Amino acid sequence: MYRIKINGNKPLSGNIRISGSKNSAVALIPAAVLCDEEVTIANVPDISDIDALDEILNYLNAKVERKDDIIKVDSSKIENKLIPKKIVTKLRASYYFMGALLSKYKRVEMYFPGGCSIGARPINLHLKGFEAMGATVTENDNLFTITADKLTGAKINLDFASVGATINLMLAAVKADGTTIISNAAKEPHIVNVATFLNNMGAKITGAGTSEIKIIGVKYLHSCFHEVVPDYIETGTYMILASLIGKDLTISNIIPEHVEALISKLEDVGIPMEIDIDSIKISRPEKLKSTSIKTQVYPGFPTDLQQPFATLLTQCKGRSIINETIWENRFLNLKELNKMGATTDLLTNQKAVIIGPTKLIGKKVNATDLRGGASLVLAGLIAEGNTIIDNADYVLRGYEGIVDKLTKVGADISLEEVK
Ligand code: EPU
Repeated sequence: MYRIKINGNKPLSGNIRISGSKNSAVALIPAAVLCDEEVTIANVPDISDIDALDEILNYLNAKVERKDDIIKVDSSKIENKLIPKKIVTKLRASYYFMGALLSKYKRVEMYFPGGCSIGARPINLHLKGFEAMGATVTENDNLFTITADKLTGAKINLDFASVGATINLMLAAVKADGTTIISNAAKEPHIVNVATFLNNMGAKITGAGTSEIKIIGVKYLHSCFHEVVPDYIETGTYMILASLIGKDLTISNIIPEHVEALISKLEDVGIPMEIDIDSIKISRPEKLKSTSIKTQVYPGFPTDLQQPFATLLTQCKGRSIINETIWENRFLNLKELNKMGATTDLLTNQKAVIIGPTKLIGKKVNATDLRGGASLVLAGLIAEGNTIIDNADYVLRGYEGIVDKLTKVGADISLEEVK
């Protein structure tokens, strides 16, 4: 287990450079197995979720070269075999191998994926979509067997604009016979990034980034070079941090358009921001005003920023409400924030109230999930005294070089492995 130690309340100045998007990279790497030649992906973040996907590729006998932020994957000779449960359950995104392997081999056997415990996280929409394309799905004790004589393009309407289902169905449809239309598709930046990657290989996908995506199946996908889009959740996390304790703190290598919902909420809180083409400079103002947020699919306020934003709300004057509409169990960080002196309470399991401002004091706390862990890092950085965050492995799943990046801008933070 890893532990993060922070001696807080030090103003942060300078520049934090944002890495490639976790949720994009974790889809691009499984998508790479669809290619019939070698592909190169750049700006891949160095995080443990990518290590887990690397392990899966190696297990399938893909040729993988990883150096700095570049990964080269040659899947032309991979074996379509059952990936051991202990690797599949390391992360959520292993489910993208379902769509990719099904598309390539018309058969896949796979265990139910892992991921943070933030809700039930069913995959019924993915499976229903595969079935609409002609596949048969059977399940036995969390082991899914999905087979098809052939995959045929279909019209699929998602009950919910699920990120995972949208990407998995694009992957399955890319080599299907005929045209697939996914309506009520998710519109997150990583959907566009994955579609662009597939198109760079020769796929025929239009409409990614809108609620209707059209995929005309092709037979062959060729070599290409592709870059992972900047991580808008990492961007948002550091923007929230800058709002709490930044002194001319610049967040660079970003796409401001991807964080518009957050910018609007930070304006409500009273945060002055200097927004440039690919960077934002933020300083903490003296007073912060309370506000309310409701998480929604993109371009609404992202659920993945809800927990970091909760830490900001502990410093805002008045009563703020968080309405979490995507996940049923994404408030586990609030109990930990309360240990540090915050006043938060659950109104329902998806609605919380935060009363501020309250002074935070360093304490020993527990990261319960990735973004909950990030919210505690922010809390530790503004708290008086020493904070110890146990189970920091969660944080390392999604934030590349977090300790180095924060140290460079003036934080007193370290990472320690606890045996
Ligand atoms: N849902 C279903 N059935 C399905 C799929 C989803 O009911 O078949 C429901 C879920 O239970 C949830 C909602 O739809 O209530 C949204 O799920 P979605 O499929 O969009 O989420 P996901 O693909 O499992 C990805 C990110 C999450 C992020 C969500 C929402 C990855 C690997 N994970 O999850 O990221 O919260 O989209 O934006 O891309 C994180 O980075 O911390 C994280 C949890």
